[in-house]
Amino acid sequence: MIFAANFKTNHTRRSTELYIDALNKKLGAKSPEDKVYIFPPATALDSYEGDFTLGAQNAYPAHNGAYTGEIGLEQLDEFDIETILIGHSERREYMAETQEKVAAKFAFFQEQGFEIIYCIGEPLAIREKGFESVMKYLLAQFEGIDISYEKLIVAYEPIWAIGTGRSATVEEISSTHRALKKAINEKPLLYGGSAKPANIKEIISIAGVDGVLVGSASLDADSFSEMILS
Ligand code: 13P
Repeated sequence: MIFAANFKTNHTRRSTELYIDALNKKLGAKSPEDKVYIFPPATALDSYEGDFTLGAQNAYPAHNGAYTGEIGLEQLDEFDIETILIGHSERREYMAETQEKVAAKFAFFQEQGFEIIYCIGEPLAIREKGFESVMKYLLAQFEGIDISYEKLIVAYEPIWAIGTGRSATVEEISSTHRALKKAINEKPLLYGGSAKPANIKEIISIAGVDGVLVGSASLDADSFSEMILS
């Protein structure tokens, strides 16, 4: 299983160091086949020791240049970061990242050989229209994306389940993952959206779920390690 922590705009450099110290004390007990990823904010990117992969939540698709407020490949290379989240619904919504921009970012980081956790997800209004509308919406988020890329991991994160405390139901996750797995040629597929210690066992036992991308419940090292060790 894959357990990925997306800190979003939480934690500082100092609190990330403390978090990683606390997490490392627990990770010795995890199964060797489980893989852990941590995506701290850009200001906390660094070279850390431990049985996990550090990734970037975002970066601009350029080596360097005049992109005020952004970080590029040069800033990631400093810490040997080769993993990135692309397409998160919060970036699509709040940072107005269009499918075209998301696809250009994907192509750039694919070209650099990055491992990409590519996020897709539908809003509540689409979910309420029914399964067919959901799949149509989700598949449109693969426009311009090379799904044959060998370092691609997909994360299905229904927007209405993110940060709401209300995860999708087992049936919703199961049917959506079954259809998505076919569409992405059985690439690893994570679920995200209010995954937490109380529901992790149920979620990771669903066929077609290869792991979780966790926001709120990953912010505390004890809570996240409880999920990994569950
Ligand atoms: P929550 O776990 O807080 O619902 O966030 C999920 C998410 O968006 C991870 O990328």
